[in-house]
Amino acid sequence: MATATTATTATTVTRIGGRIGAEIGGVKLGGDLPDGTVAEIRAALLAHKVVFFRGQDHLDEAGHEAFAQLLGAPVAHPTVPSADGRYALGIDSHHGARANQWHTDVTFVPAYPAFSILRAVTIPPYGGNTLWANTATAYSNLPEPLRALADSLRAVHSNEYDYAALKPDALPEALAQYREVFTSTKFLTEHPVVRVHPETGERALLLGNFVQRINGLTGRDSRVLQDLFQAHIESPENTVRWQWRAGDVAIWDNRATQHYGVDDSDDHERTLRRVTVDGDVPVGPDGEPSRLISPEAVPDPSFGIASGASTADSAPTAAATSA
Ligand SMILES: [Fe+2]
Repeated sequence: MATATTATTATTVTRIGGRIGAEIGGVKLGGDLPDGTVAEIRAALLAHKVVFFRGQDHLDEAGHEAFAQLLGAPVAHPTVPSADGRYALGIDSHHGARANQWHTDVTFVPAYPAFSILRAVTIPPYGGNTLWANTATAYSNLPEPLRALADSLRAVHSNEYDYAALKPDALPEALAQYREVFTSTKFLTEHPVVRVHPETGERALLLGNFVQRINGLTGRDSRVLQDLFQAHIESPENTVRWQWRAGDVAIWDNRATQHYGVDDSDDHERTLRRVTVDGDVPVGPDGEPSRLISPEAVPDPSFGIASGASTADSAPTAAATSA
């Protein structure tokens, strides 16, 4: 970690931020990458939390999904239909919702995705950057009393929240339509506020905009505590910002990050495609796993398996899925 750039064969890993982010060069992403290159990408991803690749214009939906399979099992969004009938989720500026809230993807289900792979198709002439924050360093840099407090907390996450309050500029019809699809099944899941990472063993804060409340606290106390921890996550030193070009790919460890899509490109088109890779059920520092409160099970999507459908028993391990 001392050097800014490390090189093996043709692959380069160049750090961007002090706590998060690296650009990987010398790789043409696809389903046919050698095992050694996949291992290098995975190691960089675990170390730097988000990695970026320029110039991946050759990728289409199928190539994107084929590459995702090298990191694990692709999963469908639990409620939003895909853009290609398979696993590619459309991130489209013309939909009612824009991701200008700090969040970790799909935390309203227990086994939310381990990795998200985002590919830029159409990028606006200005703005539309994405920020990522490192939730492991946000935790490790907390003063000890706050770490102890976070370790003891659990929180309820849900996909149902006040969209209109969060998106005051959105057209009411677009908001209503998005909300109807996004919350076609209403999920409530209890997670530990501190997750022990299944691959690195690091502790990371597990919060973000799907949090409804912290268990055992009233509304105001819950809000104040969320804001306290969230401020450590969002602090500029703990983030990296990416200025997209068409053909770029970003991959993040969704178990150790939050991200934020900056909504500052006016009405210009911004289209990205996201494929997510299955995760496992989080556990807290006390070994207590997350649990789905409602509904009883994650419903089957129209294609494949839903993100979050894995249970503690059935979640594929990294070794099993990358083989
Ligand atoms: Fe997201």
